[in-house]
Amino acid sequence: MRWLSVRLIVSLIVGITLVSLAFSYKEVQREKLALRRDLERRAEVLGESLAGYIEPYLEKQSPRQLQRIVDRFGNRERLEGMAIYDKEGTLLAATPGMPDRLGKQPPLVTQAIATNQGSGQFTRLGTASVHIYAYPLRQNDEAVGGLVIVHDASYINTQSTRMWRDAFVRVLVQVLLIALITLLIVRWSIVGPIAKAAQWMKALRTGKGTPPAAPDLDLLRPLAREMQTFAASLMAARSAAEAEAHLRETADSIWTAERLAVHVRSKLGDSGLVVVSNREPYSHSRKGESLEVVVPPSGLVTALEPILCACDGKWVAHGSGDADRETVDSNAHLRVPPDDPKYTLRRVWLTKEEEEGYYFGFSNEGLWPLCHIAHTRPIFRTSDWDSYREVNQKFADAALEEMADFEQPLLLVQDYHFALVPRLVKRERPDARVAIFWHIPWPNAEAFGICPWQRELIDGMLGADLIGFHIQSHCNNFLQTVDRTLESRIDWEHFAINREDHRTVVKPFPISVDFREISASPRSSESPYTDRVDLLRGLGVNASFLGVGVDRVDYTKGILERFLAIERLLEKYPAYQNKFTFVQIGAPSRTHIKRYHDLLGEVEAEADRINWRFQNGSWRPIVYLKRQFSHEEVQKYYRAADVCLVTSLHDGMNLVAKEFIAARDDEQGVLILSRFTGAARELNDALIVNPYDTEQMAEAIRIALELPAEERQARMQRMRAAVQEHNIFRWAGNLIADLSNVRLAPQKIEAMAALRGFSVGSGR
Ligand code: G6P
Repeated sequence: MRWLSVRLIVSLIVGITLVSLAFSYKEVQREKLALRRDLERRAEVLGESLAGYIEPYLEKQSPRQLQRIVDRFGNRERLEGMAIYDKEGTLLAATPGMPDRLGKQPPLVTQAIATNQGSGQFTRLGTASVHIYAYPLRQNDEAVGGLVIVHDASYINTQSTRMWRDAFVRVLVQVLLIALITLLIVRWSIVGPIAKAAQWMKALRTGKGTPPAAPDLDLLRPLAREMQTFAASLMAARSAAEAEAHLRETADSIWTAERLAVHVRSKLGDSGLVVVSNREPYSHSRKGESLEVVVPPSGLVTALEPILCACDGKWVAHGSGDADRETVDSNAHLRVPPDDPKYTLRRVWLTKEEEEGYYFGFSNEGLWPLCHIAHTRPIFRTSDWDSYREVNQKFADAALEEMADFEQPLLLVQDYHFALVPRLVKRERPDARVAIFWHIPWPNAEAFGICPWQRELIDGMLGADLIGFHIQSHCNNFLQTVDRTLESRIDWEHFAINREDHRTVVKPFPISVDFREISASPRSSESPYTDRVDLLRGLGVNASFLGVGVDRVDYTKGILERFLAIERLLEKYPAYQNKFTFVQIGAPSRTHIKRYHDLLGEVEAEADRINWRFQNGSWRPIVYLKRQFSHEEVQKYYRAADVCLVTSLHDGMNLVAKEFIAARDDEQGVLILSRFTGAARELNDALIVNPYDTEQMAEAIRIALELPAEERQARMQRMRAAVQEHNIFRWAGNLIADLSNVRLAPQKIEAMAALRGFSVGSGR
């Protein structure tokens, strides 16, 4: 740093000195010239006026008069002296000492007489610097003599010297100031921030837990962001290493994001991986002048991101953010995660009409109610189906483009939005291993049979090598539906479908949550009771028991049924009036669809009705919070609640149930869980209810609130162990393992290889 300061200071000093001196030199020269001109002019004026005075006496040849004139004018300011000569150059009169200094007849006088014109010059007389001016003395315009005027010119040099001295003083002051300012700037803006950054990095390197906040690093600010990412990676790597060591130590079989990444790399080898989903992992929206990255609150990103990061995969999704187009390249590509890019997001653009028909229409007004037995009639419009087909083709094309460079790639298609994609891709790339995971239930064959395009949907799905559902009964329903719908051979022993020359395996993969992340997320206080008091105070409610529900406002979630159970509880057990409050966090969803739009109002009206009936002072039975909550906000409610209600009328899995369990590291809290969720198959220690049975649900809430602490703890411990082991990374790991183990027909690989000019791979 010292050398930087010295180099900076020396360069500045040399530069500024050279520039200042050059300007001073010009200034001095200009001033010198002006002074000389001024002196010359004065000599000329004096010469001319004295000549007019002298000439009459010269004619009279009166040396005494001439000497008198010389004596009279010879002592003017800066005048050294003067002398008068006749035509032959004989001295007629002079101020004292002048003849000796000028010599007998100065050549300038001879010249003035000869040319009949005045002339001057700067010269030296002895050591003195002078200006000599000679002027012809005339009679009848003819030169008859000469006048010499000698001025002292030394003041011009004195003035120049003074100017140079001032310039040097100025340069010196500038140099000192610059050196001082440079030293201060270097100290404040470079040395200080670097020292702070070094201290901060040391704290990061040596510290544990939450990384310390970055200090204000002034002009090193752009570096701070990078350092922060770097530090986060370092900490993640450290905690992963610790977790690995712990796993080795305990011979544990728990899946982590890091284990999943290693697993994916070993399974995939050189094959590329492409994921297709409707929701994108990152969307961009405009906030005034700046762009904001939005991560949808979806468990899917948590599960799929480690896989894609591990193999630099591609994620194809609908670009739905209002600033999405501004952030991609010409191929609609974007490297993500934004802070530490490791894989490619490929955005697919949809027109408003396509979104209307494919997403709102066929997917969410048709397939969603068809697959969820929740008594909302599915709507099947031909125009929506056409849109669905077109959009599926669009996504299949995008997926095919993304897998063009890979030999025997893996394709993971997500959910009911893309039933046709497996067939569309497989037709073009028989060498690809294709899986579709259906995140929602699959109803029984009769129920599915009402869909006018059931054959096309099933045929599309059977293009896949692997079809995943959350639970075995959805797999069974699917196999029965296929059996009734298409010509095929069902292998009930291995849960597979053989059709033409293709085999599709159907298997349950129960999805889950990132247990470690939720369990370890920072808490606002050590006690759930403190959290509860704070939360309720924030809501303006006074209560001693807290229940919570967290859902997208969807008719499948049984929110109204839940409210009825709360009403019944308060009716049947009035002791809970003024004591039990239920907070419903409801994120508005798909509100463009009338059924969803209406439901928002219905939920609100039902909460109002029940509140009106029971509320008293600062107590209310139901608090309905109608907005999207962040993970952190939801965690607080999970941790503070006595009971969490998951009362779906039908649900593929339901991750709220698992999130609640993961959040309860205090091993307290009771889960009330609908038997119609996939989660109910795994979480036997929840209080399992039928959401249509209001009486039973009211009773379950009372039991939950009165359950002895030891039993609550024992149940929660067992459920936590189950969720910890069957976490999201296990789901992803099993899915990838099963897909990469799919055996492809060798003749198809060879045909594909010949077509694409690849060498034939292993065909695992
Ligand atoms: C369900 C579906 C997901 C979907 C999510 C949110 O869980 O299985 O595919 O992403 O709901 O719904 P949205 O329509 O907002 O994506």
